Amino acid sequence: MQPEQGAATPSFESESHRIPVPFLDLARSHRPLRDQIVEALARVCDSGAFVLGPEVEHLERILAQYCHCEHAIACASGSDALLLALMALGIGPGDEVIVPSFTFFATASAVTRLGAKPVFADIDPATYNISPREVARLIHKNTKAIIPVHLFGQAAEMEPILRLAQQHHIFVIEDAAQSIGAEYHQRRVGSLGQIGCFSFYPTKNLGAMGDAGMITTHDAELAEKLRVLRVHGMKPRYYHHWIGINSRMDAFHAATLLVKFNCLETWIAERQQIADRYYQLFAEYKLAQVILPQVLPGRRHVWNQFVIRIPHGQRDSLRTYLQERRIGTEIYYPLGLHEQACFQDLGYAPSDLPATFAASREVLALPIFPGLTSDEQRAVVAAIAEFFKNHPPRIQVGQSYFLKHPATLRGMRQASVSKGEAD
Ligand SMILES: Cc1ncc(COP(=O)(O)O)c(C=O)c1O
Repeated sequence: MQPEQGAATPSFESESHRIPVPFLDLARSHRPLRDQIVEALARVCDSGAFVLGPEVEHLERILAQYCHCEHAIACASGSDALLLALMALGIGPGDEVIVPSFTFFATASAVTRLGAKPVFADIDPATYNISPREVARLIHKNTKAIIPVHLFGQAAEMEPILRLAQQHHIFVIEDAAQSIGAEYHQRRVGSLGQIGCFSFYPTKNLGAMGDAGMITTHDAELAEKLRVLRVHGMKPRYYHHWIGINSRMDAFHAATLLVKFNCLETWIAERQQIADRYYQLFAEYKLAQVILPQVLPGRRHVWNQFVIRIPHGQRDSLRTYLQERRIGTEIYYPLGLHEQACFQDLGYAPSDLPATFAASREVLALPIFPGLTSDEQRAVVAAIAEFFKNHPPRIQVGQSYFLKHPATLRGMRQASVSKGEAD
């Protein structure tokens, strides 16, 4: 629903709009399920089967079906899912894997752990997902795989990526850690490439009460290899085919996830309603300074995060302002991976991935979780409106960051000069 044309901008001075809002409150979705979860945990306790076993197998069957895949292989975390996927595909020293720089660390660290080289691609600034044009530019004779990440709950632009992968005989591993249930033209994420990787970290749309993850594939041979790799490459017991890892899902996590799975679709619908309400509120408050997230056609967005963009170097001061009013926000991610200290040996300058660089200085994630009330959402947007009333934009995009970090600006200038670009 859109606000009425010409409607007055709501007052942000109203006391009723000043309530604290947590960035995330998991207790709200767990409270109604508490008895069911406790019962499920008691069942596991009585069974004595704590690692893998029937609860985990049940979860694997249900989630394979949900993700439109033949096979689901449960493991200990989303990070392990990525590592196991690369291991199963034989990625190792001398290989290159194209990954977005604007993602969680695990997407790239899995590559490095196996002795392969992550090659960082820039993003489409509209969605923050990996840019297919960048992928095309970076494909090289040593490229063995691409890991598109379905960031914040929206599928990456998969069709051109899958086409490129097919042309160049490259594997596609989907990092769907943030996006269970998201769709790309009616196809569920995790079912589009050779392998899909999921995280059940508690903040995800389907979260365990601890670390857990899952891998999906249509390929029976890969599924079997993944099952063996997650138990030290062992089959049968004490006979080792490969050097695998210990990455088994605990039955307690599977039992909790089975209870929570029954709510997943309701929670996704609630997240979508919350996102719609944010669009409505930002229009009502006429907050043109804020760039809202874009949903591309043919996508089912599952809104793990609602990430706005604050240009003109005002992101950090807005965040502090909200913090002072006890409104929780988060920054995903404050640096592109190409800027992280541990990847400096790869030789990237911050300016090498300009869309990632700008996004990392401008994005701000707002509260979005099942149970968030409309009053709380109004409080968030009212406080943002209040901030902009008191702090009209004065400086250019990214400038505040450069003022605080002149060395970076010098580094970027040097990089431009060494590439022969005009200043
Ligand atoms: C995009 C992405 N990839 C991988 C992971 C790793 O998952 P986990 O925390 O379960 O190891 C995460 C989790 O935050 C993620 O967001």
